[in-house]
Amino acid sequence: MKLELRNVKRDFVSRSGCHYTCIEDVNMEIHSGEFHLLYGASGSGKTTLLNIMTGMLRPTEGQVLLDGTEIQGKKEQELALLRRKSFGYAMQNASLLNSLTVAENISLPLTFFSGTGTAEEQLKKAGLWKVRNSYPSELSGGEYRRCTILRALVIQPDFLFADEPTANLDDTNAEIIIEMLEHLREQGTAVVVATHDKRFMEDSRQIHELG
Ligand SMILES: Nc1ncnc2c1ncn2[C@@H]1O[C@H](COP(=O)(O)OP(=O)(O)O)[C@@H](O)[C@H]1O
Ligand SMILES: [Mg+2]
Repeated sequence: MKLELRNVKRDFVSRSGCHYTCIEDVNMEIHSGEFHLLYGASGSGKTTLLNIMTGMLRPTEGQVLLDGTEIQGKKEQELALLRRKSFGYAMQNASLLNSLTVAENISLPLTFFSGTGTAEEQLKKAGLWKVRNSYPSELSGGEYRRCTILRALVIQPDFLFADEPTANLDDTNAEIIIEMLEHLREQGTAVVVATHDKRFMEDSRQIHELG
């Protein structure tokens, strides 16, 4: 599969009425099995770009094409189906459902989107097996974050978008998350990470500098 951005631009209007350009002239091609980094400081437009890629935000100018079809042209229902089947999005500061255990939080997307399934192996890979029956409030920061990321990738989407997945995490936790994303990529998913974390830097990854 291929996700293509052509001359994408996004303007915002501030509360005081000023128009300003957040991102412009963004051209990218993302194919299955590739690892892309949207690399830039805070405020450089990383989250905005991820929201445009996932069809949650419209570009002011330019196009986002999935296998040649513009996603903005799709109906809301069609777009919802696409997101559900093909896109995983681990948003910045994503929250788990507090009344469900780790295993239940992870199983929810599986029951919704792909019938049933157990995530035993994936819970083990994410180092969450021993806390599978714990509730979100009982998790460490790193465990919590790994759980939000696992929830986005458990359905093995065609595209996985992760917004600052390793922000404020120690090396051990960051390493597990990078490993989870790399493992997913090896299985054919296109992985797109918004970050300014140097720990993601590797020659095999395609870097798009923003800002
Ligand atoms: N809905 C919005 N309305 C107005 N300005 C916005 C909106 N969303 C983002 N911005 C602005 O766009 C810029 C980029 O934001 P963002 O995409 O969140 O950057 P990053 O994720 O790289 O930190 C910031 O200056 C931010 O204030
Ligand atoms: Mg952001």
